[in-house]
Amino acid sequence: MASSVPKTMKAVILEQNGGPDELHYKTDYPTPAPGQDEVLVKNEVIGINYIDTYFRTGLYPLPSKPAIIGQEASGTISAVGPGSKSHRFEVGDRVVWMKFGSYAEYSAVSAEKTIKIPDGISNEDAVGGFLMGMTALSLVKEAYPVQKGDWVMLHAAAGGVGLLMCQLLRAIGAKTIATAGGAEKCELARKHGADHVIDYRSTGAPKWLDEVKRLTNDEGVAVVYDSVGKDTWENSLEAARRKGKVVFYGNASGPVPPFPIARLSAKNISVIRPTLMGYTYTREEFEYYANELFQLVKSGDLRIRIHDTYKLENAAQAHRDLEARKTTGKLLLKP
Ligand SMILES: NC(=O)c1ccc[n+]([C@@H]2O[C@H](COP(=O)([O-])OP(=O)(O)OC[C@H]3O[C@@H](n4cnc5c(N)ncnc54)[C@H](OP(=O)(O)O)[C@@H]3O)[C@@H](O)[C@H]2O)c1
Repeated sequence: MASSVPKTMKAVILEQNGGPDELHYKTDYPTPAPGQDEVLVKNEVIGINYIDTYFRTGLYPLPSKPAIIGQEASGTISAVGPGSKSHRFEVGDRVVWMKFGSYAEYSAVSAEKTIKIPDGISNEDAVGGFLMGMTALSLVKEAYPVQKGDWVMLHAAAGGVGLLMCQLLRAIGAKTIATAGGAEKCELARKHGADHVIDYRSTGAPKWLDEVKRLTNDEGVAVVYDSVGKDTWENSLEAARRKGKVVFYGNASGPVPPFPIARLSAKNISVIRPTLMGYTYTREEFEYYANELFQLVKSGDLRIRIHDTYKLENAAQAHRDLEARKTTGKLLLKP
């Protein structure tokens, strides 16, 4: 290990599942060493994603306990472990990575899921748009390849993934009907490219399913992108047109419960439950999506909206804000 790496570091540790108070900030946690085909990254900017709350609550199982949660960060390589894959990097390289264990000053991460940040992209934008941007790209390219003129339904459109989806869908030329909670979020979704925005939390607003039917002359949409889950899944099935598709990609309100497959037969619709990990499994796939994303960010065609940057020690507050639906765009942490 490089000599400048301290033996202990700052980290947020989760000893047991539970609420945000289970995220404990430590200043003397052992710094990891990079193993076979791993690099040690000094994280400068850490991305928060809704999935971090699933690991915290126990909706998704932790790989081990105590755990350092978090899926991505950008920073510089501090040490390179053994192996041909890690040796594509050198100490000092500016990188962004996606794996597990980012709520810390240093992370030992798989070189396969690490990539150099091109000049002209800041560490904030690199991680601000990394996991979320690749997710949005894989949703519009693979989960359902959106075509110009398609009617598209998008839930939680002012969130981190949501605002990126709005921009990508506008660039493709889709007709996007979006939902968001509250007037401010609706305005933001509109500004980022949604054509019709429905405030699904305001009591006076039209019911979103009725609006979808009205706007599409009762036909329904080609695809529904649903990351809300429990509260929206049934109407999402209703909103799809004949031969349409529903992409369930998240559980912000809780998971979609099991349902009889026969429910799909009324309109020959299909459903998919994709993950970004499943679309970026090989190095080739990972590089494809990362490079597409870098190009869009560098050209300014995809704008990353940072909601706020919290100190690492305030990770619990960031989780509270995210789960209270108070945020728009991306939340970042800095050690
Ligand atoms: N499958 C994948 O690989 C993948 C990858 C990345 C993200 N995701 C999923 O994409 C979704 C968005 O992630 P994100 O990190 O960008 O989060 P986010 O959208 O910024 O935050 C979640 C949003 O969901 C909405 N929501 C609806 N019901 C909610 C509830 N009961 N509690 C809390 N929020 C609720 C809120 O927006 P409103 O106030 O507007 O309703 C909230 O702001 C998440 O479901 C996440 O799991 C999936």
